[in-house]
Amino acid sequence: MTGKFITIEGSEGVGKSSNIAFIEDYLRAAGKQVLLTREPGGTVLGEAIRTLLLDADNRSMCSDTELLLMFAARAQHLDEVIRPALEAGKWVICDRFTDATYAYQGGGRGIAESRIAILEQWVQNDLQPDLTLLLDMPVAAGLERASKRSTPDRFEQEKLVFFERVREAYLARAKKYAARFRVINAEPALVQVEAQIRNILDTMLESELQLES
Ligand code: TMP
Repeated sequence: MTGKFITIEGSEGVGKSSNIAFIEDYLRAAGKQVLLTREPGGTVLGEAIRTLLLDADNRSMCSDTELLLMFAARAQHLDEVIRPALEAGKWVICDRFTDATYAYQGGGRGIAESRIAILEQWVQNDLQPDLTLLLDMPVAAGLERASKRSTPDRFEQEKLVFFERVREAYLARAKKYAARFRVINAEPALVQVEAQIRNILDTMLESELQLES
């Protein structure tokens, strides 16, 4: 594979959308072919699965169903979109990926990490992101921002403690997989968050240039 796989993670209200738009523009300006996609979703089937997962009326969905649907959408996404794009040399920016499963279904819902790892291996084999940007801020502040948006979906209806567990699980993964994770302080004004991201992307672009020369 010749492209790069960048994933963006974080709990609710951390400003993923604005920062993803910034990353996309920055990489395009650096001459990269960029493919922007998201999880759950990114394909016709995956988006249908996303609708099921986010529908607040699906109150009876059990944690294992939620976990398996996440990976069903991911299998399709990898097969139809992510792997072909990476093979074509594109820079794939994915709004959430498997770290979100460890954070939400693992940390949030309490599913054992070892069970998630089985599905991860099944669906991804050895594919891992080259870079994961974790946008991090205190949960209450994020939820406050998120609450200003539209009607809460099935996840957004969860309580503060759920998102505290999500954040803890994300931070634990960032520590465990320090080589690919970068934790961004998402609390300050957007320009300051962008400056942190720009530094990280510049380092990645420079190391690419060194490899090419
Ligand atoms: P979004 O609001 O960032 O588009 O993400 C949709 C929701 O799906 C969000 O609340 C997090 C959740 N999610 C999981 O619970 N597990 C996963 O593996 C992924 C990709 C998302």
